[in-house]
Amino acid sequence: MPFLSDTLSRIKPSATIAVTGLAAELKAAGRDVIGLGAGEPDFDTPQHIKDAAKAAIDGGKTKYTAVDGIPELKQAICDKFARENGLSYAPDQISVGTGGKQILYNALVATLNPGDEVIIPAPYWVSYPDMVLLAGGTPVTVEAGIASDFKLTAESLEAAITPKTKWMIFNSPSNPTGAGYTRDELKALTDVLLRHPHVWVMSDDMYEHLVFDDFEFVTPAQIEPGLYDRTLTCNGVSKAYAMTGWRIGYAGGPKALIKAMATLQSQSTSNPNSIAQYAALEALNGPQDFLIEFRAAFQRRRNLVVEMLNAAEGITCPKPEGAFYVYPDISGCIGKTSPAGTLLDSDEAFAKALLEETGVAVVFGSAFGVSPNFRVSYATSDAVLTEACTRIQGFCASLR
Ligand SMILES: Cc1ncc(COP(=O)(O)O)c(C=O)c1O
Repeated sequence: MPFLSDTLSRIKPSATIAVTGLAAELKAAGRDVIGLGAGEPDFDTPQHIKDAAKAAIDGGKTKYTAVDGIPELKQAICDKFARENGLSYAPDQISVGTGGKQILYNALVATLNPGDEVIIPAPYWVSYPDMVLLAGGTPVTVEAGIASDFKLTAESLEAAITPKTKWMIFNSPSNPTGAGYTRDELKALTDVLLRHPHVWVMSDDMYEHLVFDDFEFVTPAQIEPGLYDRTLTCNGVSKAYAMTGWRIGYAGGPKALIKAMATLQSQSTSNPNSIAQYAALEALNGPQDFLIEFRAAFQRRRNLVVEMLNAAEGITCPKPEGAFYVYPDISGCIGKTSPAGTLLDSDEAFAKALLEETGVAVVFGSAFGVSPNFRVSYATSDAVLTEACTRIQGFCASLR
């Protein structure tokens, strides 16, 4: 009898976490490594949020809380949805979990039965397909490649829907491409979904606040009220508030689904960390002005990276609307040989040679379902990004 479960054999470790770990290992061994793999802001958590956490500790907010969030935080989330997204949720329609990751996972485990399909536009965040597999469902990836600016078209969505489709996962701005859907682009998708009442929408709005050049963020239930009763609007404080380590994510959705997610959480992790919940409360209710600064820094870095990568031989780098990633196409490098003699026959080979020969760590595209590409996380200083892109340019120029 095997010791490990069959479920585990269906999934693989996160490629982004693996690249980050490898870069850290090489660095620890004394190599000059620049890690562009990690999906987290380089900024520190704003001081007023840290102060709220310290006050929570001193105030004895250190006990178990309600399983899916303290009432004050649920109310703050309702207020946030109303204020920023025009969405009306009551506190019993809100779930708070240990990061956005747990929220998405809870929703999938709470709803999927064997054979249920989940539509995932590719390139996708690495965890979606594996979470669906863990939950016993079937991921159905639909390519949304560079030709459609990494956005799913209405035609592709329509073609992917079957009687077994339970969810469609929507992520804008996207990890790994940074692509953000305009109001019209999203409306084209919600029009399709309206015609298929059995399909639910899981909108992952994690990068909502990180959008550039006056891009207007929109979310499905806001664009199409007809989908409100079958949409789970997911978000969290990790990326916008530089709080990745605090582990607070949340969602608004239909009461019965929220209740099922709470039942699941009650038998797994119970409440998210009490102190982090008070910090998240301050993040949502407190001053938001630092976001302007975060956004300006990310926009400047995006421009820098897009310009420098487009100047590299064999690379085409679209300019994304948000998040802190770019997802350049490297078709022009595939089939060539690196200075150390490695044949670059895939984006994985490219990323491995780039790391070994120049010390720049990026995540290969096949981890996100569309190749040949790589993902750069530009959540690091301008100086580091300039050095990394210079090395990438040099590497591309040296390919034969
Ligand atoms: C698209 C997307 N959704 C969800 C998450 C999970 O966020 P959290 O760190 O809050 O679990 C991430 C983190 O990388 C992400 O990129």
